[in-house]
Amino acid sequence: MKLANIKREWWKEGVVYQIYPRSFQDSNGDGVGDLRGIINRLDYIKDLGVDIIWLNPIYSSPNDDNGYDISDYRNIMAEFGDMDDFEELLAGMHERGLKVVMDLVVNHCSDEHMWFQEAKQSRDNPYYDYFHWWPAEKGTPPHRWSYFDPEANAWCYNEATDSYYLHYFAIKQPDLNWENPKLRAEIYDMMHYWFKKGIDGFRMDVITFISKHEGYPEFPPEFHGQAMIDMYAQGPKLHDYLHEMNREVLQHYDIMTVAEGPGTHTDNVLKLVGEDRQELNMNYHFDHVSIGVGDRFIVNDDFQNLVKFKQVMSDWDAALATEGWNTVYFGNHDFPRMVTRWASDAPEHRRTASKMLSTYLLTMRGTPYYYMGDELGMSNIKFDNIDDYKDIMTINWYQLTKAEGGDLDKFMESHKLCARDNARTPVQWDDSENAGFTTGTPWIKVNPNYVDVNAAAQENDPDSELNYFRKLNQVRKDNLTLIYGAYTLLLAEHTEIYAYTRTLDDDVILVLLNYSDKTVTINQADLAGVDVSNGTILLNNTASLDVTADTVTLTPYQAVLVR
Ligand code: GLC
Ligand code: CA
Repeated sequence: MKLANIKREWWKEGVVYQIYPRSFQDSNGDGVGDLRGIINRLDYIKDLGVDIIWLNPIYSSPNDDNGYDISDYRNIMAEFGDMDDFEELLAGMHERGLKVVMDLVVNHCSDEHMWFQEAKQSRDNPYYDYFHWWPAEKGTPPHRWSYFDPEANAWCYNEATDSYYLHYFAIKQPDLNWENPKLRAEIYDMMHYWFKKGIDGFRMDVITFISKHEGYPEFPPEFHGQAMIDMYAQGPKLHDYLHEMNREVLQHYDIMTVAEGPGTHTDNVLKLVGEDRQELNMNYHFDHVSIGVGDRFIVNDDFQNLVKFKQVMSDWDAALATEGWNTVYFGNHDFPRMVTRWASDAPEHRRTASKMLSTYLLTMRGTPYYYMGDELGMSNIKFDNIDDYKDIMTINWYQLTKAEGGDLDKFMESHKLCARDNARTPVQWDDSENAGFTTGTPWIKVNPNYVDVNAAAQENDPDSELNYFRKLNQVRKDNLTLIYGAYTLLLAEHTEIYAYTRTLDDDVILVLLNYSDKTVTINQADLAGVDVSNGTILLNNTASLDVTADTVTLTPYQAVLVR
């Protein structure tokens, strides 16, 4: 890879830090995080060394799905504050050189949105065609699977119109009808509204689902159940709509876009992010997070299969090596805490393992999407009791499993590993009550390990996860090789070590990561000619490194960067 041939972009070089506002910082004691809370923590965010802040939805919402059910796209959720708070927050970010990316949730809205309130009244209502309907006189609608419906059925009957509306997600999240040019124009107008306020981009929620198959044909049986996702993502007009959106809105601003791309795979991603396509900049896929996780998040033996993980990540790198641009993430508000999911949250390993995973995210090719609290090594809360869960997804799947007489113990054990609420517990700021998140009762329980795992304790500890993350950001910024360098996987079949080089012009950086709780020795001869004995160690998450003339020995979860 030659630097001279690379088209440099701020959204390729920056590290994205994701804030789930509900759980970041409460400022008024109601137990719910808010915009003022983020404003109060701006210096903390800046000091991390990250560049781009992605905010989960902060728009007006009845919160059936924590803000992913929007009732007014141009207003702020009352619990989070108001537009003045938002403008202050945006200005505070920009003053600190941080970009702000907002969630764009336009596959569906809330049933409390004025559009749906109108639409559901009669077939003649001007808003009726803003949604997808199946008239009851045509019989029962063709089967469509729903993520959050208590019966997994995506059609819901509405008496006043004698028709069924489509909801891929909850009953309170009707899908918007992109076939209707008026609806598209409303959305583009709303996007201009936010760009004119100065935001720097959109993360587009399930954007791959916006185009529905005309007439709702029956899907082939192999796509039934959750497998429908792959069909949902292949709607015939998806690319027409995104190209139109680019022409009407995106191309007029210096902004970034990233698709949340369920159903996007290495063989179709370039249609979304190929530069000549003029659609979106980036996409994030689900291929690695799906390893070892089946329907309803039931885990199997592959859950931490490193060889499969390396294969998936390497295939994705290859797919975008010369065209387009990749993204890298472990966790977000929809997935468990990275250290529990991909390494170990056992007390003796959690700190080192967190640093190792952070090292991976910031040294792979692709823009890293880093989730709040991971810099502190936060881990899954692992609720024992279904009543502790707040997430509509876990609650409905539990009910569905119960109704079918399924294995509820297995369900609960799997959700300790995979449930979304594991990532939604409040950020652990200090060891005071409720981890300094709120003076009231938090909307969801705080992980009891906050007494040991918190930002205040880590602030002045040079070896903390937090300070390691800050260093890592600096090393990344200082070495363009880690951003643009070609990626070459080494030791592909090794079951414990993930090793690769990054190469830019003549510069080669070797990354060695031990993804296991064992001490592992590898041969220097397998390390692409990098002489670890005489090389420069750019970063090491452990106090020492055991090297002989021929071998390198990595302790559990050790991570080293060598030039
Ligand atoms: C996306 C969001 C998730 C939400 C869903 C429906 O997957 O990340 O949190 O529940 O879309 O909007
Ligand atoms: Ca609050």
